Amino acid sequence: MQVTHLLLRDFRNYEKAEVLFHPGLNVLTGANAQGKTNLLESLAVVSLTRSYRVSEDTQLIRYGAEGARVSCLVEEQLSQRLDVVITRAGKTLLINRQPVRRSSEFIGRLNVILFSPDDLRIFRDSPRERRRILDAEISKLSPAYLTQLSQYQKLLKQRNALLKSAPVDGLILDALDEQMTACEVPIGTARRQFCGQINSTLAAYYRRLSRSEDLCTLQYLACTEEAKRQSYADLLFDSRQRDTETGLTNTGIHREDLAFLLNERNVAETASQGQKRMVLLAFRLALQEVIAARSHSHPVLLLDDVLSELDPAHQEALMEQIPADCQCLLTSTQVPAVLQQLSYHEYHIENGTVTPLEKGMP
Ligand SMILES: Nc1ncnc2c1ncn2[C@@H]1O[C@H](COP(=O)(O)OP(=O)(O)OP(=O)(O)O)[C@@H](O)[C@H]1O
Ligand SMILES: [Mg+2]
Repeated sequence: MQVTHLLLRDFRNYEKAEVLFHPGLNVLTGANAQGKTNLLESLAVVSLTRSYRVSEDTQLIRYGAEGARVSCLVEEQLSQRLDVVITRAGKTLLINRQPVRRSSEFIGRLNVILFSPDDLRIFRDSPRERRRILDAEISKLSPAYLTQLSQYQKLLKQRNALLKSAPVDGLILDALDEQMTACEVPIGTARRQFCGQINSTLAAYYRRLSRSEDLCTLQYLACTEEAKRQSYADLLFDSRQRDTETGLTNTGIHREDLAFLLNERNVAETASQGQKRMVLLAFRLALQEVIAARSHSHPVLLLDDVLSELDPAHQEALMEQIPADCQCLLTSTQVPAVLQQLSYHEYHIENGTVTPLEKGMP
């Protein structure tokens, strides 16, 4: 998969920008605060219909403007035009200029994997944020998963509201529990399968990146396993008294978590900053492989200022791991030395203006 054409209108600090990208490596250079991350963010918005940096879409609108638009041409076997239009009244998603009603129809049309310096947050964040990463990735591959997840969240809200009412209507609770379990089983299975697929290559990526023999694994911490293999239905039933007392649903797929391990120790608690970075790089590379295998197309890799945080040997190890047939957009204040031997196209970004440069020319 490739983004060949990107058009920004009043998006962040871009008033109007139009960029043609190349297959392979595209390097975006520029001083701090010129719009490098904003440009990568715009593609992440097309991928998931929302930003990973802010919760309010309106923050993406250029200060003082009415609305923002991100348009791009994505080429796979066919070429598709994808547009996200954001106004203060709401958001419109268009595929080939036709509005779509459900975001699940739109998500995954452009598949990107973002490597961001903010990634390290994942180790400090709450389980909810970690699940969100998993859910976002699985949703891009399976619209059915997204539907089940939003169905589950709706039911969970209803169940929590019911638990707060007195007396709790047992028949309604039975019905809700049954419907929730019907969503939980496939969601739990999809998450476990997904982690299993990540694990099939994560350790190898980590070893090559870190040039060590350490074993890196991703563990899915399911409620059912913590409670020694009861089914979701049993767990929900057993939890009723506690749930009624607390007015909350205390068990279920909304309480599960994931953890990265290095030699069986929790990375969040024991690893160095550099190791944490490499665990996340290995995770994103494994993710790209899972997505490429499942969708038969390489996702677009967005590497935001990732090289500057690695020493030269690890920079080289990272660049070696990026598949040659992946399109890659990499930001950096200057072209990093490690890229000198590679072929790439450079774009210079200054104050929301993108200028393509010939390689090697200022
Ligand atoms: N909604 C907005 N409207 C206008 N400008 C904005 C908006 N949101 C952010 N900006 C500005 O965009 C500028 C560029 O931000 P960006 O994060 O893309 O910088 P960068 O080039 O990645 O810099 P760095 O190298 O420091 O990471 C910042 O000065 C920021 O204040
Ligand atoms: Mg930046």
